[in-house]
Amino acid sequence: MLLTIAVSGYRSLRDIVLPLGRLNVISGANGSGKSSVYKAIRLLADTAQGGVIAALAREGGLGSTLWAGPEKFSAGMKAGFQPVQGTVRQNPISLKLGYADEDYGYAIDLGLPPPSISMFERDPEIKAEAVWAGEALSRRNVFAQRNGPHVSILDEAGRHASVLKSLAPFDSMMTHAADPKNALELLVLRDRMRGWRFYDHFRTDPEAAARRPQVGTRTPVLASDGSDLAAAMRTIIEIGDAEGLMETIDDAFPDCTLEIAVNDGAFEVQMRQPGLLRPLRAAEFSDGTLRYLFLVAALMSPRPPSLLVLNEPETSLHPDLIAPLGRLLARAAHASQLIVVTHSLPLAAALEACEGALSLTLSKRLGETVVMEEHPRPAWAWPAR
Ligand SMILES: Nc1ncnc2c1ncn2[C@@H]1O[C@H](COP(=O)(O)OP(=O)(O)OP(=O)(O)O)[C@@H](O)[C@H]1O
Ligand SMILES: [Mg+2]
Repeated sequence: MLLTIAVSGYRSLRDIVLPLGRLNVISGANGSGKSSVYKAIRLLADTAQGGVIAALAREGGLGSTLWAGPEKFSAGMKAGFQPVQGTVRQNPISLKLGYADEDYGYAIDLGLPPPSISMFERDPEIKAEAVWAGEALSRRNVFAQRNGPHVSILDEAGRHASVLKSLAPFDSMMTHAADPKNALELLVLRDRMRGWRFYDHFRTDPEAAARRPQVGTRTPVLASDGSDLAAAMRTIIEIGDAEGLMETIDDAFPDCTLEIAVNDGAFEVQMRQPGLLRPLRAAEFSDGTLRYLFLVAALMSPRPPSLLVLNEPETSLHPDLIAPLGRLLARAAHASQLIVVTHSLPLAAALEACEGALSLTLSKRLGETVVMEEHPRPAWAWPAR
């Protein structure tokens, strides 16, 4: 289970260290920074896949994702009698992301490249990384560290031995120094991060793949756009909690039954509804119904992830579906740690009543995301450049 997420210099997240529980509910007004928290966690996962720089580029590059305010707010700026203005920087420009779970922590620090003749001069560089044992990085618990091109790892004799001297500025030590012999911890941590699952964009438009019959293969993990819904549902029925699935469908759509039709190897989701003479086909489902089924398939995966992150799952659902959605999420939290970003006050309230729930209500102060609850700030330290 993740205990802490830390972000610095990313969009409105100037400097934030969030505690996490089993079931985390992130809410707040438009523009308060909810999606930025979601994306920051996703960028961490991209690091483990070797894709953090490309992911940042897709968001507009370091230039547009970096915190656009001053490095720090003076007391006068905070009190409002001094205008907000840039001051002489104490630290280099950087975007930092990190997390700690029950065993290990990881952090990465990205910055601007030195002037060069490369046409990739806008690519950010990985300046520092660290993996440590325990909640917060310190000199005593660091296991692996990267400083520029140098990577050192704690060896069996308890010394930090240099393992790489020329790691490229666009490669992470998580993908390039994780080997089973000398750096098993890195490998374990990387695989954990690769297992995190994110859902923020299910496709429900008329051309969406989930609306058409598709060749089905066993699918324990629903695709991020929901395209393999029928196969994922059938996999739950065959190797997962089939009974729970039917209960969940009945909870949301009373007296309706879900069926997976198969025609010459092509799978299709169908629903029997009271009053109709034939089942409705996926192409005929309302957007909200289809979205709810995506959520069911994602949350009832027979291979639940350690961490599941959802951005605004309530989108386009009728208020009547919010209570069943709350129950579905609460049930999923038994198998996975959940982070749910939501706009729905009733959903937030339903989740907050669950055991192990932690609310993080975000707000803005001078353009910077802050947390309204007075959670104690978890201990945190960034790796030095
Ligand atoms: N580089 C930046 N520096 C500072 N603030 C930024 C930067 N880029 C974006 N922002 C601000 O960050 C805020 C966070 O946006 P985000 O998308 O996370 O909000 P949200 O809480 O998900 O809102 P919504 O409810 O509308 O989806 C926005 O108000 C935006 O103006
Ligand atoms: Mg958002």
